[in-house]
Amino acid sequence: MKFWLATNNEHKKRELEAIFSGHTLVTPGSVGLVFDPEESGSTFLENTLIKARALYDLVHEPVLADDSGLCIDALDGRPGIYSARYGSTNGKKLESWERNELLLKEMEQITNRKARFICSMVLLFSHDRFFVVQETLEGEIIRESRGSGGFGYDPILYIPEQGCTVAELSEDAKNRISHRGKAGRAVAQLLAHIV
Ligand code: IMP
Repeated sequence: MKFWLATNNEHKKRELEAIFSGHTLVTPGSVGLVFDPEESGSTFLENTLIKARALYDLVHEPVLADDSGLCIDALDGRPGIYSARYGSTNGKKLESWERNELLLKEMEQITNRKARFICSMVLLFSHDRFFVVQETLEGEIIRESRGSGGFGYDPILYIPEQGCTVAELSEDAKNRISHRGKAGRAVAQLLAHIV
């Protein structure tokens, strides 16, 4: 099946293509559509639906949207839905490595390092017909960045069961355990039953 992906993030696209192999995923940017809706929700799920409906309004075809981020227990769940914008000043976003350094600094004196990636995913066929999954990847904030794979906060989330950070995992290994991998596989299974 063909789905529009409610993102222009190439890393996310690559991860989702591996999960939804056999389907065609098209990003708005790849066909010259401007897609940058305001993520004004107060939860991952609200933002996922905002993105999904905004893209559906442009293309009127099935849409796959995800909203994701890093939630740290000791910071009351921050940066959470603001993960992409953490540390931004005057609307100017930091580079990933700058965000990671800033977050490690904020966490310097904190001993409770528990954190998780969260991914809320929506498969939307129309404004009122959609399927939702939300998944997590549990870990701990490491004290120094490690690894060069993945994207975003991957170098600072350590997964005890794997003995490494997410950025030290291969793409396949990340997809097997990740918030996005688990949510995507659930949606792909659902798809087999509903279409
Ligand atoms: P979104 O595009 O609004 O969903 O923003 C997600 C942000 O959360 C990204 O820019 C990353 O900073 C972070 N994030 C989401 N998923 C991941 C992941 O799998 N690894 C690392 N960072 C992630």
